[in-house]
Amino acid sequence: MTVLNSNIPEAVRAVASNGTQLRYALMELSAQYKDAIALGRGDPDLPTPPHIVDAVNQAIRDNKTGLAPISGLAILRDAIAEKLQHDNGIPASRENVIVTTGGQEGLFLIMQALLDPGDEVLVPDPRYTSYDEAIESAGGKIVLIPTDHEDAFNLRPESVEAAITPKTKAILIITPMNPTSGIVTEDRLRAIAEVAIKHNLIVISDEIYEKFLYDGWQHFSIGSLPGMADRTITLNGFSKSYAMTGFRVGYVAAPENMIDAMTKIKAVTTGAAASISQWGALAAVQGDQAPLHEFHRIYTERRALLMAGLRAMNLNFSDPRGAFFLWTNSSSTGIHATELAYLLLKEAQVLIFPGTGFGENWGGYLRISILQSTDLLQEALARMQPVIARYGV
Ligand SMILES: Cc1ncc(COP(=O)(O)O)c(C=O)c1O
Repeated sequence: MTVLNSNIPEAVRAVASNGTQLRYALMELSAQYKDAIALGRGDPDLPTPPHIVDAVNQAIRDNKTGLAPISGLAILRDAIAEKLQHDNGIPASRENVIVTTGGQEGLFLIMQALLDPGDEVLVPDPRYTSYDEAIESAGGKIVLIPTDHEDAFNLRPESVEAAITPKTKAILIITPMNPTSGIVTEDRLRAIAEVAIKHNLIVISDEIYEKFLYDGWQHFSIGSLPGMADRTITLNGFSKSYAMTGFRVGYVAAPENMIDAMTKIKAVTTGAAASISQWGALAAVQGDQAPLHEFHRIYTERRALLMAGLRAMNLNFSDPRGAFFLWTNSSSTGIHATELAYLLLKEAQVLIFPGTGFGENWGGYLRISILQSTDLLQEALARMQPVIARYGV
C-alpha cells in the first residue's frame, strides 16, 4: 500500500513522507470542515483540575509573575525530585531536574545536550516523530527498532541489541507508547537495562503517559533499576497527566552534568518555562491526586466504547495497554492509511491520523484517539461506519 490516490489535496500530499508535518497538514485541513470531530488529537480534552487553575490565578494575584530561574523554580524542582523518588523509584534531587517548556522542549534539549554528529539513537518504530526532528537537528542518526502487532508493540531486548553499532549512543524508550498505546513491560525493561549497561549506552525514557495504564498493567521506570540512575534520562511533563497541555510544562531528570548542559542550551534559546505555569505544576504535583483517578475512569470508559465500536466494524487494533489511542490495523480496507484518513475527513468529517504520521512504514494503520466525550466518540463511530463499510473490510 504505497500508492497515494490523486484526490488527496496537494498540501497533504506534499508532506506525506514527514510524519510530523503530515499530522499538522491534516489538522489544518480539518479546520475547513465545520463539524469535524478530532480523533487525531493527543492533548487531553478534559478541563484542568480546579485546584491547579486556582494556584495559577493566585500566583498572578500575588504577582509571582517574574522570570523563574532557567532550570525552573527551586521549589518545583524539589517537588518533582520527590515525586520521582516516590512514584518512580528514581533517585533524584533538585540538581537532577530541569523544568522545560513542555516535554517537547525537553526532548529537543536532551538530544542537543547528548549527541555529537553521527551518533546513533535506537528508536522503536512506529514512533512519535518529533524525536526524528530532535535527533536530526542535533546531527544524530535514527536507527529504527522494529516492533509488531503480535507482540502488542512491546520492545524486544534482542532487537535493541541487534541494532547496536560502535556509533550507538542511546536507546529511546517511550512507555506507555505513542502511537501504539503499547507499553514496554517490566521484564523487557530489565533486560534492556542489562543491554544498556553491557554496551555502555544511555537510555532516554519518555514516560509522559505514565498515569494512564489499563487492564491492571503497571507503569515501571527503567531509571529505578540498579546501575541505571547514571545512564538514564527520564522525560515527563504535566500535559497528559493533569490535562495541562497549554500550560507548557515538562521536565527532564538526568545526571547533574546532563542537566547543566541542558540548562546552558535553554539559557540561550527559550529561557525559563513560564513562571505562572510552574506554580500550576507545583499545585499539580503536590496537591490532591484524585482528579487523576477521575481522568483514568473517564478514559477507561471511552476506550471501551471505542474498542467496541471498532470491533463492530471488523477493525482490528493492538492491545491498548496505556495512553490515549487505538492503533488500528486498516490494511483490510486495501486503502493506504493516508488516503483513508483523508476519506474519513472528507466523507465523515472525522479527523484521524494515519499510521504514516508516525513513520513511513505504517500505511496500514490508523491512530484513533479517545480524547473526546463519549457522545462525540459515538457520533464519530456512526459517521465512520458507512465509509469503512463502503471500502470493504
Ligand atoms: C511521546 C510524547 N512525548 C512528549 C510529548 C510532548 O508533550 P508536551 O510538550 O505537551 O509535554 C508528546 C506529546 O504528544 C508525546 O506524545
